[in-house]
Amino acid sequence: MLSYLHAFHAGNFADIQKHAALTLALSMMQTKASAIAYFDTHAGSAMYDLGSERAKKTGEAEGGVQRLWQRREHLRSPDWQPVLGLLGRLNADDGRLATYPGSPEWFRQFLRADDALTAFELHPSEGEQLANWAGRKVRVLREDGLKGLLGQLPPKQPRLLALIDPSYEIKSDYIAVAETLQRAWQKCRHGVYLIWYPVLTSGLEKQLKEALTAGPVRKILVSEIHLNHPPERGMTGSGMLIVNPPWGFDDRFAAMLDEVSGADGLGIRHELDWLVPE
Ligand SMILES: C[S@@+](CC[C@H](N)C(=O)[O-])C[C@H]1O[C@@H](n2cnc3c(N)ncnc32)[C@H](O)[C@@H]1O
Repeated sequence: MLSYLHAFHAGNFADIQKHAALTLALSMMQTKASAIAYFDTHAGSAMYDLGSERAKKTGEAEGGVQRLWQRREHLRSPDWQPVLGLLGRLNADDGRLATYPGSPEWFRQFLRADDALTAFELHPSEGEQLANWAGRKVRVLREDGLKGLLGQLPPKQPRLLALIDPSYEIKSDYIAVAETLQRAWQKCRHGVYLIWYPVLTSGLEKQLKEALTAGPVRKILVSEIHLNHPPERGMTGSGMLIVNPPWGFDDRFAAMLDEVSGADGLGIRHELDWLVPE
């Protein structure tokens, strides 16, 4: 039984890291004309109301995307522009954001004529909202995203970008994600894979990194955000693994996150390194 609902967390610091990485990877890959197959294995419901009871209950967007939006004039890296541009298009120009896009909407905004987006979602009501949002350009599959991804590889299009963003409600998800990535990579070695994970006081996420360090997949970049004032228990940060990042992604992504680090930014510290080099 799935209970996680992303509406409680949409637009938090972890979403900023995830959607900034997604936007940068997308825009760097799109400097070449050949078509891209996009897969969003855990899509959520695609659009989030930042004024909803769920969003207000946690207030997580306040320290995330609302803070980013307040600081938009200070962000010098050109790679923030596509992120700010999409937020601006979805919201009225009155200083506060009312709507936050989930990952399928970030993908959809960048879709070109020959690209294809497949979004998986297993939660019944999230899946229904996603299907209502989707329209003709997006294929929604209301099934397990890890098995579903493997069933779709290799894609018809010459290039691949997959976002794997589970809620990790089941402890075995960390190992399931590592195994899925390894099998996906065997089917499509040149694919770009983005994997999100929480940084926890329990350290459970180390299973994912250890399994990948010991496995065959090469060229895995790891980006980790740590909160300057973490809670005593639970999530103290968030991580992204980027497999086969476009050339130069590491420096550009580090520059983006450096600009939002520290007390003046999102109250975070950012680290970037190779988990597994080439
Ligand atoms: C962290 S949220 C996704 C957020 C979304 N990717 C975004 O960035 O806006 C994780 C989602 O995965 C869904 N989910 C959980 N297990 C799943 C599975 N096995 N297959 C597909 N979706 C699943 C949950 O219902 C939830 O909506």
